[in-house]
Amino acid sequence: MTNMFKDIIQKLYETQNITDDEIKLLIDLPESEAAPLREAALKRRREYYGNDVFIRGLIEFSNYCKNNCYYCGIRAGNTQVERYHLTKDQILQCCDTGYTLSFRTFVLQGGEDLSYSDDDICDIVSSIKKAYPDCAVTLSIGEKSKETYQAYFDAGATRYLLRHETATPDHYAHLHPESMSLENRKQCLWNLKSIGFQVGAGFMVGSPGQTLDCLVADLRFLQELSPDMIGIGPFIPHAQTPFAHEPQGSLLRTLNLLSILRLMFPYVLLPSTTALGTIDPIGRELGLEAGANVVMPNLSPVDVRKFYALYDNKICMGDEAAQCIRCLGMRVKCVGFRIVEDIGNVRRSV
Ligand code: SAM
Ligand code: FES
Repeated sequence: MTNMFKDIIQKLYETQNITDDEIKLLIDLPESEAAPLREAALKRRREYYGNDVFIRGLIEFSNYCKNNCYYCGIRAGNTQVERYHLTKDQILQCCDTGYTLSFRTFVLQGGEDLSYSDDDICDIVSSIKKAYPDCAVTLSIGEKSKETYQAYFDAGATRYLLRHETATPDHYAHLHPESMSLENRKQCLWNLKSIGFQVGAGFMVGSPGQTLDCLVADLRFLQELSPDMIGIGPFIPHAQTPFAHEPQGSLLRTLNLLSILRLMFPYVLLPSTTALGTIDPIGRELGLEAGANVVMPNLSPVDVRKFYALYDNKICMGDEAAQCIRCLGMRVKCVGFRIVEDIGNVRRSV
C-alpha cells in the first residue's frame, strides 16, 4: 500500500496531475501514510516561495448580508446577530494600524451589504491606495455584475476572493437557497479573471453533503480556472444556522487537500486559515507544514469581531492586531518559516 501511495505522490509531484481515483486515495490518506505527501508539498512550496509566509490584513468591515447561505453565521435569516458596518474612516484606521505592523495587503471582506454603493466601495478602495500606494487591496464582498467589478478594479483593487464553495450543482443547491446558483458564482469568477484581477476561489472541507466526487469536481474546476489564490478551510457549524447539528470538517482531510493543492498548483497562494486554527490549537502551523504559504491575521476593530462569527468558537476574537501578528509570527517561526514584509504577489514560475 505504502509504495502505491508513494508512486501516486511522485506522479503528482512530477506532472501536477493524477486520475480521479488517485485524488480520492490521497484525500483520504491515513495520517500514518501522510508524511511523504507533506514532504513533497513542502519541497514544492520551498522551490517557489522558500520559507516566506505572506501576511494579509483581514478587515471584516460589514456583517450585513442579503444572502442566506445555509452554512453561514451572518446569513440574512439569522436575526440574532448584532449587525455592524465600518465607516471609511474606521477602515482607514485599520489600514493605518496594519501598515505600522508591516502589512502590505489589506483584504476587505464582508457580507453582501447593499448599504454601500459601488461608488462607496470605489471611494474606500481609492482612499486606501492613495494613502498606501505600496499596498495591494483585495476585495471579498461576493457576487456583483461585471461592470461593478470593473469599477472596483479601476479604483485600484487588484485582487478578489470569491470561493466557488462547490463545483457540483446539486451540492451547491444543498448549501444555498434557490436565489443563488453555481452558474452565476462561476461566471463571476470568469468575469473577475477577464478584467485582470488576481482571483481567489476555494471551498469548505466537509461541508454538509460533500462527497469525494464533489472534492474531485472542485479540484477539476480549479484546474480549469487556474486561480492565483485558493482558500480552503474546514466547515464548522454555527448554532444559528440550518446546519447547526452537522459535523465539522476533518483536520486530516483539510491537511491532505492543502498538500494536494500545493502539488497541483505549485505557484498558488494558499492560506492556512482561521477555521483550521479553530478546529485544532496548532491547525494553522499544521497547515503551513502541509504546503500553505499565507496567513491572514485579523485587523478588524476588537469590539466588532464577535459579530463576524461565521461559525462557532472562532479564534482571535479578543486580540488586538498587534497581539495577533506577534502570536502568528511566533507560530510561523516555530515551524521553520518567516513572515515577510512584502506585497506578496503570486509567483507563477520559479
Ligand atoms: N460574502 C463574501 C462571499 O460570499 O464570498 C465573503 C464573506 S463569506 C462569509 C467568506 C467565506 O466564509 C465563504 O466563502 C465560506 O466558504 C466561509 N464560511 C462561511 N460559513 C462558514 C462555516 N460555517 N464554516 C467555515 N467556513 C465558512
Ligand atoms: Fe452572506 Fe455569509 S451569507 S456572508
